[in-house]
Amino acid sequence: MIIPTELINHLRQAGRVAVLTGAGISAESGVPTFRDAQTGLWARYDPQELATPQAFYRNPQLVWDWYRWRRELTSQAAPNAGHLALVEMARRVPHFTLITQNVDGLHQRAGSQEVIELHGSLARSRCAVEDVLIEGWPAGPGLPTCPRCGSLLRPDVVWFGEALPAGALKAANNAARAADVFFTIGTSALVYPASELPLEALEHGATVVEINPERTPLTRYVNFPLTGPAGEILPLLLHETWPDAQP
Ligand code: OAD
Repeated sequence: MIIPTELINHLRQAGRVAVLTGAGISAESGVPTFRDAQTGLWARYDPQELATPQAFYRNPQLVWDWYRWRRELTSQAAPNAGHLALVEMARRVPHFTLITQNVDGLHQRAGSQEVIELHGSLARSRCAVEDVLIEGWPAGPGLPTCPRCGSLLRPDVVWFGEALPAGALKAANNAARAADVFFTIGTSALVYPASELPLEALEHGATVVEINPERTPLTRYVNFPLTGPAGEILPLLLHETWPDAQP
C-alpha cells in the first residue's frame, strides 16, 4: 500500500481532523465485527433481534447473557496497532476528535481521550426505567436491578430503533462539519445516523479518507479509499506523515 502524497500533505496541514470508527478497527484485536459476531452458542440468534428494546422486554435474561458474552470477549482483547496509531495522531493534530460506534472500550484502553461514544459502552449499565447510569458491570449471572428503584438494569448501549445520545451525536456532527480531514475506519457505513457523518464532512469541504479491506456504500464518494486492514494502514499513514511519530 502506498499512501498518496496529496493525502500526506493534507494531513500535515490540517487544523482539524475527525475520525469515525466501527467494529472493523477492533477486528485485529480478535473482537469479531458486529455482523460476524455470532459464533458458538449464539450462532442461531440474529444480533438485530437481540440488540432491541423489544428483545429485552421479552427476554431480559437472554439479552444480558448475550452482552455478558460480548463483554467477556472484549475484555480478553487488547488494543491493536490501529487504535495506538490514533492515539499518536491525536498528539500531532491541533484539533482531533475521535468518534466511535464501538462499545468495546478499546480506544480508551489504548490511551485515546474524550472519545465520543455514539452507541454507548459495555463499561456501564443503566436503569431501564429512570435512565440513571451505573458505572461498572453487574456481577453474576442473574438479572441485575437498579440500586435506587429496583427496576431492571440494562447495558448502556444503543439498541436498534433507539435514539443516539443527543450530546454525543451533536458533538460528532459538529466535528464532521468542522473537519479538514475526516476518516471513516472499519465501518460498513450502513447504520444511520453514524453513516451520515462522512457525507456531512464531504458536504462541508473535508477531505474524506476511508480505511477498510472491503468496499462499502461510501467508497465511491470518498476522496481517498485506502483498501486494507486498519492495523496496517494507520501505522503506515502515521509514519509517512510524521516520520518521527511513536509507536
Ligand atoms: P460492521 O460489523 O457492520 O462492519 C465492520 C466493517 O469493518 C466492515 O465494513 C468490514 O469490511 C470492516 N473491517 C473488517 N476488518 C477490518 C480491518 N482489519 N480493518 C478495517 N476494517 C475492517 O460494524 P459497524 O460498521 O461498526 O450498532 O456496525 C455499525 C453498527 O451496526 C454497530 O455499532 C452496531 C450495529 O448495528 C448498534 O449496536 C447500535
